[in-house]
Amino acid sequence: MPKVVVVYLSTSGNTKAMADAIVEGAKSRNVDAMAVNFQETRIEDIKDADAIAIGSSTFYYKMLPPMEKFIESLEKANVADKVGAAFGSYGWSGEAPVMIAEKMREVGMDVIDPVLRIQYQPVEKDLEECKRLGKDIAIKVKKKYTKAESEKRGDAPLMQEVKMGEGGH
Ligand SMILES: Cc1cc2nc3c(=O)[nH]c(=O)nc-3n(C[C@H](O)[C@H](O)[C@H](O)COP(=O)(O)O)c2cc1C
Repeated sequence: MPKVVVVYLSTSGNTKAMADAIVEGAKSRNVDAMAVNFQETRIEDIKDADAIAIGSSTFYYKMLPPMEKFIESLEKANVADKVGAAFGSYGWSGEAPVMIAEKMREVGMDVIDPVLRIQYQPVEKDLEECKRLGKDIAIKVKKKYTKAESEKRGDAPLMQEVKMGEGGH
């Protein structure tokens, strides 16, 4: 089963509420998903994941320094080609998710556009948006996962099995 890990930094629970809703949305599309505080994230969680969503609230027009460090460490975790998504709660400028998405692209991740930002505490309709993002991540990762699995098995492309003359005009 494809794996989605949702990493977050949240000082008063707003971005965490978003992370939990993203996980709920992903799980509703039958992928393995979990939310984890960035301080408790292990490098194996990142390496094992097929998709990584990272969320941070914005402080003084950027991320808090420990989150910046975490983002810098992504490079060492071989994340190129994994699906990525960035999100976060904010008050007035909301730079953090944009910066996360930039870094994800820099390290070669396949990033879902646009980033998801919610002002202050997410209300019901905001949480629905978060669930939608979780579903979109799951759909994207399942497509990639199925393709990679079939390539590993060496499945022939369907069209090769269609004999000439049977394939239409
Ligand atoms: C000291 C401080 C600085 C902040 N700086 C910014 C900022 O520069 N831009 C912004 O959009 N929001 C800023 N905020 C607002 C937070 O991003 C917002 O309250 C957010 O909902 C917190 O989410 P969290 O509970 O997930 O940490 C700031 C809040 C505090 C307390």
